[in-house]
Amino acid sequence: MKKLLVMMMAILAACSMLLAGCGGGEKKAAEKVMRVATEPSFAPFEFQKEGSKEFTGFDIDLIRAIGKQAGYKVEIQNMGFDALIPALTSGNIDVAIAGMSITEERKKVITFSDPYYTSGLIVMVNKDEANIKSIDDLKGKRIACQIGTTGEKKSRSIEGAKVVAFNTQSEASMELKNGGADAVINDAPVVGYYLAQGGDKVAKTVGEVMEAEEYGIAVNKKNTQLVQDINKAMAELKKNGEFDKIYKTWFGEVKK
Ligand code: ARG
Repeated sequence: MKKLLVMMMAILAACSMLLAGCGGGEKKAAEKVMRVATEPSFAPFEFQKEGSKEFTGFDIDLIRAIGKQAGYKVEIQNMGFDALIPALTSGNIDVAIAGMSITEERKKVITFSDPYYTSGLIVMVNKDEANIKSIDDLKGKRIACQIGTTGEKKSRSIEGAKVVAFNTQSEASMELKNGGADAVINDAPVVGYYLAQGGDKVAKTVGEVMEAEEYGIAVNKKNTQLVQDINKAMAELKKNGEFDKIYKTWFGEVKK
């Protein structure tokens, strides 16, 4: 009898270890993992502090809070922005959070969570630029942007523009600074943050914010449970004040 009990316990222990994903017995048996990817050249939404590989920013805090609320262990990896959607559809990752605007085109291939931030595009030029006063002055000009973004799409819609799309947003801003481009088209809050962090010594914005865009968390279309979990957790975080707390950390005041 005793032997049987010991054996059963051993089997049970082995099973739970298997469930925990081989070996690491300290993990809880049923912990779900959320494989998240982002493209971290997009402060204050996602970036790596100088000299650090660690991700930080509004999106990072948000997805970590959502994971905690919904009972997932969040693992974040770095990826090119244009690689995020393919990685979702192929099942290599579960979630992309990258200041990604909800568009009809993207909705054909992936599912978005409920929107979590309202954004838009803006034109940035060098500080001493006198001729470009709005997007209408960009015809035939050299525009830098990030690959696969709505900023790239907007840039390519401008007549005669010579568009150069970079892997990261930082490279696009650098190209402007170095005189390789006449303008950058990028998300307004990211440009705002860049200017506030010292970019205003070399650059400025012109014209109005264009294209009201909303950010959503992207998930594989088949993963309906995960989208539900994310939306439910986000609603709870909005209710219990956690969302506002994260918002305030990165943007100061709370937008209602
Ligand atoms: N909101 C824009 C888009 O969805 C730009 C996002 C870029 N994000 C990033 N993490 N680099 O296309």
